[in-house]
Amino acid sequence: MNVLGIETSCDETAVAVYAAPRLLSSVVASQTNLHAKFGGVVPELSARAHIERLPAVTAEALAGAGCGFGDLGAVAVTVRPGLLSALLCGLSYARGLSMSLGVPLVPVDHVKAHVAAAFLREGNDRPLSAEEMPALALVASGGHTLLIKLSGPLSFELLGTTRDDAVGEAFDKVGQLLGLPFPGGPAVEKAAEGGDPEAFRFPVGKIRGAPLDFSFSGLKTSVLYTLHKIPPAKRRARRADLAASFQSAAIRALTGRAILAVRETGIAKVVLCGGVAANRSLRRAMAAALSAEGADLFVPPMQYCTDSAAQIALMGSALLESGATAGPDLDASTTSELFE
Ligand code: KG4
Ligand code: ZN
Repeated sequence: MNVLGIETSCDETAVAVYAAPRLLSSVVASQTNLHAKFGGVVPELSARAHIERLPAVTAEALAGAGCGFGDLGAVAVTVRPGLLSALLCGLSYARGLSMSLGVPLVPVDHVKAHVAAAFLREGNDRPLSAEEMPALALVASGGHTLLIKLSGPLSFELLGTTRDDAVGEAFDKVGQLLGLPFPGGPAVEKAAEGGDPEAFRFPVGKIRGAPLDFSFSGLKTSVLYTLHKIPPAKRRARRADLAASFQSAAIRALTGRAILAVRETGIAKVVLCGGVAANRSLRRAMAAALSAEGADLFVPPMQYCTDSAAQIALMGSALLESGATAGPDLDASTTSELFE
């Protein structure tokens, strides 16, 4: 059964076709250039671009999969969480397709789909499988930083979350402080390559009484104060050290919580996913920390860590099998099901 996946929760217009157990195509049209001059995603621009691009991106995904609209068995779409106006573009388009083709409409939670990316086989040395359950998942994205217990492919329990900024948001804000281009995450990673991660000792935020929760706003503020103490003429020269030291603290926060979660739950399998999981230093550090702990790491291939519709179509396919379809009154929401 071919499942069409549609993703428009933020600034990527993405469509994919999945037929279990294989991904047949995945097309992502990034809006980065559109938002770069504003230093962040502008919701109105994002929604307009989704509407303009969805038909062509869908046609490309269908062509890549070697099929047409008539070969689709279901349409899966991200309905939460994200920018409401952006989500509604994908949802309206998906609803129209589902009604005109007479196939089921499957609502997908974007954050859960980030975890589901670990099940994708394409380009993945060690894909996750249902037999590996229970497992833990660390979602590190621009909107979320979550620790989750997975009892099965569709069974999620929230163990910890950030109390303020998400880790990707911290990367983006530090990128801005350092005068790097948008989005900050990949730019900070690149700038950090030539820097000394020990040059500055930035703090890792901890929440009293909630050891699996995260806090990144103190880290961001600490980078700001440190930057202001450096004379303006010398800031550029210290940029690589600042980026490397910030990245090192963010990585310590993520690896530290993952290890703690393994110890607290006795579950020695961890999925690392979400846009920040595309960071090579984080991938290496997490692999080393978990290996020393005797735990296994599952990381989706780079292109399925950041937003794509591949994970939406895969998750939609699994949900369809479980009967989780929706009627035409389906609505979008800004928060994940994980918080309900
Ligand atoms: O998962 P994602 O594509 O979108 C959300 O669901 O939020 O994550 C986007 C976030 C952004 O904050 C971006 O800067 C960050 O992931 N990111 C990275 C890297 N690539 C993307 N952060 C650090 N290093 C990277 N290589
Ligand atoms: Zn995402």
